[in-house]
Amino acid sequence: MDGVKVIDHPLVQHKLTIMRDRETSTASFRRLLREISTLLCYEVTRDLELTEVEIETPLQPMKAPILVGKKLVFASILRAGNGLLEGMLDLVPAARVAHIGIYRDHETLQPVEYYFKAPQDLSDRLTIVVDPMLATANSSIAAVTKLKERGARDIRFVCLLAAPEGIANFTAAHPDVPVFTAAIDDHLNEKGYIVPGLGDAGDRMYGTK
Ligand code: PRP
Ligand code: URA
Repeated sequence: MDGVKVIDHPLVQHKLTIMRDRETSTASFRRLLREISTLLCYEVTRDLELTEVEIETPLQPMKAPILVGKKLVFASILRAGNGLLEGMLDLVPAARVAHIGIYRDHETLQPVEYYFKAPQDLSDRLTIVVDPMLATANSSIAAVTKLKERGARDIRFVCLLAAPEGIANFTAAHPDVPVFTAAIDDHLNEKGYIVPGLGDAGDRMYGTK
């Protein structure tokens, strides 16, 4: 699929299987999401630009590679996005963070926005939007639209599970935003849940229902 990269690393797939299991505890679910997110982070940042700096090792001077440009931004779609955010920050601790409060109405499946806080200068930074679930894509489309309104131009979207319907909707709305996902599942059910999926990611992360 154009603009979509499936990260089929064996460790990602193994951990994802445990997360899908209904018997997996809240504590394990959270830990696995954090672990997987470091692996997803590795892939989504694979092509970041480098420059060279002069340093001195204990043995001799050398030119060594270092990331160039402004610190990148991770934009977490609350709540469940925070599960991916933590592992991303483990790998890129100097990143800036945007929080986007959106939940989807259970009846209409339309996004309800309740919070937005982001760094001012989004136009100069790569923005990586994180949310474990891309179902209808209504939430992620709204989040990316908001980030673009606030100036973001270079955006990537990372999730754990995507539905084919959600990918089609998302890429139609934001064809310039590549999607990175650990798996593309079979379909959405009549309630907008990803099947086979893993259930409600936020509820499983935080033990709510
Ligand atoms: C979940 C998930 C996404 C959204 C995906 O959040 O984390 O944000 O649903 O569904 P969509 O693609 O159909 O919009 P939810 O609305 O359950 O909020 P929560 O993270 O606060 O639990
Ligand atoms: N949000 C979730 O948390 N899970 C789904 O399957 C769909 C939307």
